[in-house]
Amino acid sequence: MALNITIRQLKIFQAVARYNGFTRAAEELYLTQPAVSMQVKQLEVQVGLPLFEQVGKKIFLTEAGREMLHYAKQISGHLSEAEAVFSALKGIQRGSLDISVASTANNFGTKLLAAFSREHPSVTIKLDVTNRETLLKQLADNEKDLVIMGKPPENSELEATPFLDNPLVVIAPSNHPWVKEKKIDPERLRDRTFVVRERGSGTRMLMERFFESHDIPFEPGMEMTSNEAIKQAVEAGLGLAVVSIHTLALELETARLAMLDVIDFPIMRHWYVVHPRSKRLSPVAQAFREFVLTHASDI
Ligand code: PGA
Repeated sequence: MALNITIRQLKIFQAVARYNGFTRAAEELYLTQPAVSMQVKQLEVQVGLPLFEQVGKKIFLTEAGREMLHYAKQISGHLSEAEAVFSALKGIQRGSLDISVASTANNFGTKLLAAFSREHPSVTIKLDVTNRETLLKQLADNEKDLVIMGKPPENSELEATPFLDNPLVVIAPSNHPWVKEKKIDPERLRDRTFVVRERGSGTRMLMERFFESHDIPFEPGMEMTSNEAIKQAVEAGLGLAVVSIHTLALELETARLAMLDVIDFPIMRHWYVVHPRSKRLSPVAQAFREFVLTHASDI
């Protein structure tokens, strides 16, 4: 005959076994002592054996009681595991993800999102692609679930975890005379025309720092808000540019652009996944953050 017992009875039984007594178990469960005894009695009827025995004033588990305790623990363990799995599923599958990535992280940011979305097809995803200054503002206003960007300012209220290198390189059209040269002196960048990103861009900020640290006046040529536009401009011969290697895969493969071997390049930056320290990440945001940290280098 199948055991006709309930999870509630098992919980009560476990509490009695834990405290070796009915009174403390009843207190813990906010039940009366007779209610607890009654549930244990019903369990014993189902099992067909006593689960506790009384010796003097104390009660002890019988052999059947010890067996019951073993299974009761396994059942509660499985139940809490199932509960964790279901709440994670609920959180992730019904969730939505609102993230922002730096313009320069556009390519691999989108690939990461696509890979994440294949694993969690019912998550709704919103992606904003914008520059560093706007990202910092969005973080300050707690507008986004997560942000992918270059290193945020030190001592900030932000939790920032690096996950990938971001080398910045000098690019030229592939027929540029410097393409074949090795170890080009940065001095020679003086008086060159550069097509640059807008103020507020992290790439622009690093480029300005580079010129400053080499005592070369920074005189920007054409200014553009998109890396795609900058690459087109360089290809069309409008100047050189400094861009992240992550924006370049296709152009290098098809030899439309070339990287110049300038000393002190690449400038090594890193990508960070960032959120306000005080923010409580949703299950989806947590899952995406984990995904970024573990999969970014395979993308
Ligand atoms: P950007 O950001 O797209 O604003 O240049 C990239 C970075 O911070 O390096």
